[in-house]
Amino acid sequence: MKLFDVYPLFDIVPVKGKDVYVYDENDTKYLDLYGGHAVISIGHSHPEYVKNISDQISKLGFYSNSIQNPLQVALADKLGQLSGCENYKLFLCNSGAEANENALKLASFKTGKKKVIAFKNGFHGRTSAAVAATDNQKITAPINAQQEVIFLEFGDLIGVEENLVQNETCAVIVEVIQGIGGLDEGTSEFYQGLERLCKQFNTLLIADEIQCGFGRTGDFFAFQKHGITPDIISMAKGMGNGFPIGGILIHTDIEASYGLLGTTFGGNHLACIAALTVIDVIQNENLMEHANAMSKYFIAKAQEISQIKTIKGRGLMLGLEFDVPIAEFRKTLIHKHHIFTGSSKNPNLLRILPPLTIQKEHFDVFFEALKSELV
Ligand SMILES: Cc1ncc(COP(=O)(O)O)c(C=O)c1O
Repeated sequence: MKLFDVYPLFDIVPVKGKDVYVYDENDTKYLDLYGGHAVISIGHSHPEYVKNISDQISKLGFYSNSIQNPLQVALADKLGQLSGCENYKLFLCNSGAEANENALKLASFKTGKKKVIAFKNGFHGRTSAAVAATDNQKITAPINAQQEVIFLEFGDLIGVEENLVQNETCAVIVEVIQGIGGLDEGTSEFYQGLERLCKQFNTLLIADEIQCGFGRTGDFFAFQKHGITPDIISMAKGMGNGFPIGGILIHTDIEASYGLLGTTFGGNHLACIAALTVIDVIQNENLMEHANAMSKYFIAKAQEISQIKTIKGRGLMLGLEFDVPIAEFRKTLIHKHHIFTGSSKNPNLLRILPPLTIQKEHFDVFFEALKSELV
């Protein structure tokens, strides 16, 4: 049997990872400035992560959500502290799309309404409501297109108000920093305006922190910089450092009832240990402060390069915009310089999403490679 061919693949076979490096089957070392798509937060095979997951699986890897799981409770406590949303409730699932799917569903349950406002260039996943709220016709099947979603320009508060006034919208969903869309971020006025309008019109504000959350921007969640408290916050990616886990933080006004949401695997013991370890390492190694320091260093170096038109993003969710497409250049970086980077919907934007443990010398290697190709 062959694989269902949905991913364009680089001809590289990583077999091992260590901190910011991955190694192929010939032991060639690659610098990972892509973090497996913003997933590797505390570095590949972090010793504490390996130990804690190994210890946990040797005790109990899984049991269903019909028993007490103190690891889920511990994770909820930690997330409450880090988000500043201490009285919110946690629901755990397995991926980013699933987190948004549950967030949208809850918004609809809570408000009794069914329309969604989303933004152009946004990405929220590939499941039913999540993909319908994603601004990409190509990945939306007719079955998904039944959902009623209005796409507005990112930043268009007037458009939001005009739609909310009709009182049919259950949720406004927004990536605080757009990932695949190309690293745009709204102003604090925009996010605060969304919060105000959502409250006014009985609509829930969902912050999609799946890519920009979990310390990646130097704040635990990117929304924290804007002085807002979204009704639901969705997370995944960096949360498990590669172990599949997602979740939503849910405002206390949204009441739970048995069976309202559910999943077989969500919140299993291994996933919780992975996320708890990620949080421990982020805190013990001061990785959020470190992300800010490394970001400053990266930006200063990028500013020295005249071919870079714009530097986008913040923390370690960064992008370099050129005047020309970067697809070939990315290939050269991988095959000649052994450096992984990311792309986006904007063909001229190179994305940098490294593990939060990245050091200055790693960025030096990247900039040397960049300069050698730009002359
Ligand atoms: C902002 C955002 N939301 C949702 C998702 C979907 O996450 P997953 O691929 O885990 O379903 C992604 C994935 O890239 C994302 O970047």
